[in-house]
Amino acid sequence: MTSRTPLIAGNWKMNKTGTQAVEAASRLKSLVNGVRGVQIMIAPTYTALSQVAQVLKGSAIALGAQDLFWEKQGAFTGKISSEMLVDAGCSHVIIGHSERRQFFGETDQTVNRKIRAAISEKLIPVFCIGESEAERDAGDTFSVLDKQVRVGLKDFVSDDLSGIVVAYEPIWAIGTGKTATREQAQEAHQFIRSLLDTLFGKPFANTVRVLYGGSVKPDNVRALMEMPDVDGALVGGASLDPETFSKLVFFND
Ligand code: PGA
Repeated sequence: MTSRTPLIAGNWKMNKTGTQAVEAASRLKSLVNGVRGVQIMIAPTYTALSQVAQVLKGSAIALGAQDLFWEKQGAFTGKISSEMLVDAGCSHVIIGHSERRQFFGETDQTVNRKIRAAISEKLIPVFCIGESEAERDAGDTFSVLDKQVRVGLKDFVSDDLSGIVVAYEPIWAIGTGKTATREQAQEAHQFIRSLLDTLFGKPFANTVRVLYGGSVKPDNVRALMEMPDVDGALVGGASLDPETFSKLVFFND
């Protein structure tokens, strides 16, 4: 089996001013100093990106944004391009988060365009998918994931997608304190990896990292990470406090 370096990623959502983000990033930087065998990413809000990039210089923590727009530039009030994110110091960008799908009209088609825009600037997309509670209850989890992956990654070849990260986030587990069991997570991750194998071949499927997201906390991270197809975590609430987040980073200790 190919070994995949775990990625622990924090999505700060609409939290922390620039000053607060700098403070939290500095604290996190010292807490995770010396960590080995785990990659770390944090995604502050846009207005904090440049300042946090300065703080993270020389650390092992990568900087991500929470979204982007697919056009390169122009009359698109309120939007931000992949080039702007790179210029601000980002290496990663979260795309298709369920909150964007739920509140801001994100669709599998717009996700596809955003992934294309990200990789055109060599930004690593953290491509989010996941079913709602109603979809799970109706037995539709796999068909929902299947569609999200097929449309989100439509018209790409494996070379385009090298480095991409997939995040499986069951919507019913996000911010609710209701984590998927590790068996539920493993089952979904295995399904996603085998679909990626069908679409892009085994070498790609074996190397792509599939993160779990949804109420990941210090007391459940280890059990989740023990599952063979869980390659990391995308963390909301528990990423806001540097002490708590660093416990996730050191899940193995
Ligand atoms: P949560 O959020 O950890 O607060 O459940 C996860 C996410 O939205 O990425």
